[in-house]
Amino acid sequence: MHIVIQGAGRGLGLAFAHHALRAGATKLYLTARNSQDCKGFRQLPPSANIQWFNVDFLNSDQIASTGEAILAAAPHIDRVIVTAGVLHDGEIQPEKRVGALEAEAMLHLYQINAMGPVLFLKSLWPLLRRAHPVTVASLSARVGSISDNQLGGWYSYRASKAALNQYMRTLSIELARYNDQAKIVTLHPGTVETDLSKPYRSQVADGQLKRADESADQLWAVLNRLSARDSGGFFAYDGKPIDF
Ligand SMILES: NC(=O)c1ccc[n+]([C@@H]2O[C@H](COP(=O)([O-])OP(=O)(O)OC[C@H]3O[C@@H](n4cnc5c(N)ncnc54)[C@H](OP(=O)(O)O)[C@@H]3O)[C@@H](O)[C@H]2O)c1
Repeated sequence: MHIVIQGAGRGLGLAFAHHALRAGATKLYLTARNSQDCKGFRQLPPSANIQWFNVDFLNSDQIASTGEAILAAAPHIDRVIVTAGVLHDGEIQPEKRVGALEAEAMLHLYQINAMGPVLFLKSLWPLLRRAHPVTVASLSARVGSISDNQLGGWYSYRASKAALNQYMRTLSIELARYNDQAKIVTLHPGTVETDLSKPYRSQVADGQLKRADESADQLWAVLNRLSARDSGGFFAYDGKPIDF
């Protein structure tokens, strides 16, 4: 299996890379913002079967050139997992009130959480559209579901994940016209012990916080069970569909 994992430097992306190796991946194409200086680069065994690339979703030229480099290196792609996601970033914190909305922070989250994944997949389009079974997943979040929003707050994170869900759904419809064996979905990983959830751990009910490897294993199994009929959907770690 030839597998692309965006965001493999840490967190869930790194857990997916470990899982892919255990699952017998032939070749891994891994990305991070600084691929030669990340936890994943230090942790994964050096191997001719692992190739690292730099991608920062705030840089659309780099997204395109990295996509070209992956296309040049990969004979085909069986699975793509896009994991980039930002909830807080330095001064940027999730907004609890409308008064906390700042245009720059809203745009920052939109670029990374919504635009980045679809632009990255655009860069891989020539391989994705070839008629063959390919599975594409982008990590979303249950809080991106509009129908599930009972609590409010986290405006920009929620809105950017809702936009991501819409981009992926739209992409799945276009891709099906060329490759009816393709599956494109968005996934909710649960609440997972990573940098993203660190400031909110105390609010998580006992037994609800997952390790990254546990969540990645569950999501991998969900992806294995999907059929092309599921393409365009939004699924949780337990395989249950989530309403948009
Ligand atoms: N953890 C949870 O509880 C939880 C719950 C629901 C959904 N999710 C979603 O799961 C996904 C993975 O998050 P995580 O929990 O693994 O968090 P994490 O450990 O904080 O990882 C964040 C990932 O996003 C990447 N990223 C950040 N800024 C980026 C940028 N400008 N361009 C490209 N990549 C960028 C990081 O890459 P670098 O290493 O290069 O910075 C890293 O791979 C996210 O989409 C998140 O929204 C997580």
